Amino acid sequence: MHNDTPYSYGNVSKILHWLVALFVIGNLIGGLVMEDLPPELRGMIMPVHKSVGIAVLVLMFVRSGWRAFQGFPKLPHAIPARERQLARLGHLAFYPLLILMPLSGWMLSSAADRTTSFFGLFDLPRMIAPDLALREFFGAAHSVLAWGLVALVTVHIAAALYHHYIQGHKLIRRML
Ligand code: HEM
Repeated sequence: MHNDTPYSYGNVSKILHWLVALFVIGNLIGGLVMEDLPPELRGMIMPVHKSVGIAVLVLMFVRSGWRAFQGFPKLPHAIPARERQLARLGHLAFYPLLILMPLSGWMLSSAADRTTSFFGLFDLPRMIAPDLALREFFGAAHSVLAWGLVALVTVHIAAALYHHYIQGHKLIRRML
């Protein structure tokens, strides 16, 4: 029930998947609209953005450990081998991307000498000393990673819907 089986996801993987999906999509939308908001509203959203991003970092380490510890379900053989390989590659690409995304945000905040608090509970240490060039670098990295993630999330959702509704493999059910 809690563990994955060779054919389906267990509760732990399902909860981690949907929490990360909610947080990442929320932060992508929030991050992209934030720039056009008045400073007061941006100032209210930014601490939530940072806290949710750090939560994604922690959840991704938990997810990686869980996956390494008990494996993951195989894709059905009804799906052609080439598509299965592509799907695996796509799923694997989420891991470095979802770890680098919050890390680059944390680095950017540190280089800008800004505080990163975790939902107001405690402050995280600054990763690097204030530095304008590094702030620019990590700002650009955060933006490039965000667009890479938008592309990957779009392909991921499109592929899941295609296999579920058009090919009839009912893959989405395994994650519900
Ligand atoms: C899953 C995690 C995260 C996602 C998906 C995400 C997404 C985004 C996006 C889409 C933007 C707008 C980028 C642009 O303007 O091109 C942004 C901006 C920003 N994010 Fe994140 N972010 C995440 C985590 C974090 C974390 C953990 C921090 C800090 C601790 C952070 C700090 C910032 C800051 C300071 C900006 C404004 C950048 C600037 O003004 O140049 N983000 N984020």
